Amino acid sequence: MLAAGEGTRMRSARPKVMHEIAGRSLLAHVLDAVTAAGCGRTAVVIGPDAAPVAAEAQRIVPGAEIFLQAERRGTAHAVLAARSAIARRADDLLVVFADTPLVRPQTLSRMRAAIGGGAAVAVLGFRPRHPLGYGRLVLEGGELVAIREEVDANAAEQAIGLCNGGLMGFAGATALAILDRIGSDNRKNEFYLTDAVAIARAMHLKAVVIETEEDDVRGVNTKAQLAESEAALQQRLRQAAMEAGVTLVAPETVFLSADTKFGRDVVVEPFVVFGPGVTVDDNAVIHSFTYMERSHVGKRALVGPFARLRPGAQLGEDVHIGNFVEIKESTIEAGAKANHLAYIGDARLGAGANFGAGAIVCNYDGVGKYRTDIGKGAFIGSNAALVSPVKVGDGAYVATGSVITHDVPPDALALARSRQVVKENRAGRLRAVKAAAKKKNPATE
Ligand code: UD1
Ligand code: CA
Repeated sequence: MLAAGEGTRMRSARPKVMHEIAGRSLLAHVLDAVTAAGCGRTAVVIGPDAAPVAAEAQRIVPGAEIFLQAERRGTAHAVLAARSAIARRADDLLVVFADTPLVRPQTLSRMRAAIGGGAAVAVLGFRPRHPLGYGRLVLEGGELVAIREEVDANAAEQAIGLCNGGLMGFAGATALAILDRIGSDNRKNEFYLTDAVAIARAMHLKAVVIETEEDDVRGVNTKAQLAESEAALQQRLRQAAMEAGVTLVAPETVFLSADTKFGRDVVVEPFVVFGPGVTVDDNAVIHSFTYMERSHVGKRALVGPFARLRPGAQLGEDVHIGNFVEIKESTIEAGAKANHLAYIGDARLGAGANFGAGAIVCNYDGVGKYRTDIGKGAFIGSNAALVSPVKVGDGAYVATGSVITHDVPPDALALARSRQVVKENRAGRLRAVKAAAKKKNPATE
């Protein structure tokens, strides 16, 4: 895997391959595809100052070996930075670019199969709508004889529509012999990996093309291309979700993450965003304009419209979370409800409990964060404020507008608000006082 991409055209302080689509880095997408294609060992070639890239690679593939290409002298030079890994002569060796995040495992498997079938080199070919910038695949009598980089190609070669996707496979037994013969005699004075084809031919070895669709090799060099890859991946993810039985009412408005997981008969209304780490169980309904990340939604739960599930929101079965409700790091047990305008953070809401409109958990005092525990079947009245750490027992009742600072025992009623005062017939007098004050000073309008 070559991950030494310079990020300058991204206009970003972040390494290019650390940019994300569908909630994961470009690097992670490619490493996942490589793993899914059954590759046993992974070597990642990085550039100088790419420590975050190395860390990400090892997070995704814990045994990944990291190699440093100190100087950028071409794709073959980069591959040879991993010489000791190549020298182990695996059955087959795939060279993939970390900036082509949409490559599918089945495409990599086809390349491996070609090597297994006797080819020394397998090249991933495609027919781009605009071939500008790609190496051209030169065929003679149906056989691949060379790859010509655009800058080195003559007019006839430039007219070739079949291009090099960049990803290549090698037979492990001959890979190093081929790579070591690659020179830098070309317009850019670089060691081109693509020269491997002509060299293999000269060694009487077979080189083949595996043709695929453009998405597989779609590269990311700019923020605009990042967005194009995101769009293409979203299409794939929506398609897969619908094939698995999810109802997406308006699929083009729903944004998924690569790891979003759905049960059966889930309904997702228009304009819902799934950040990373969300699982939704059978028959749940996600209403419009809901935003979720690192959360779990239980069976038959109803979420939204306009709900926000932040990391650690765990909703049990039959839970109802309504509009403008935010939940963070909290477990909402089976059948509990928070239907309107609420914040629940660092808390447990027991089974069947009701969390009223406008009620909130005050989990943060500006210094520390504390837990709140609300028992089974408890009732939290509207506009209550539960000041953490605090416990409300099973079946307890917190009156509307209460500020709860002490634990409430099970089945107790807690009132923590000032008493109402009523003054008969005083409304008229109050209005008269106010009117006189306004006449004296009209600026108080
Ligand atoms: C390469 C292919 C070209 C193909 C195109 C597909 C070569 C010589 N050319 O061209 O035929 O059509 O991909 O996208 O292989 N890299 C390093 N170190 C280096 C040079 C490159 O790590 O010294 C990495 C890059 O970061 C990138 C990958 O190798 O991940 C490809 O390099 P790039 O310069 O983008 O190659 P292209 O000119 O696009
Ligand atoms: Ca490129």
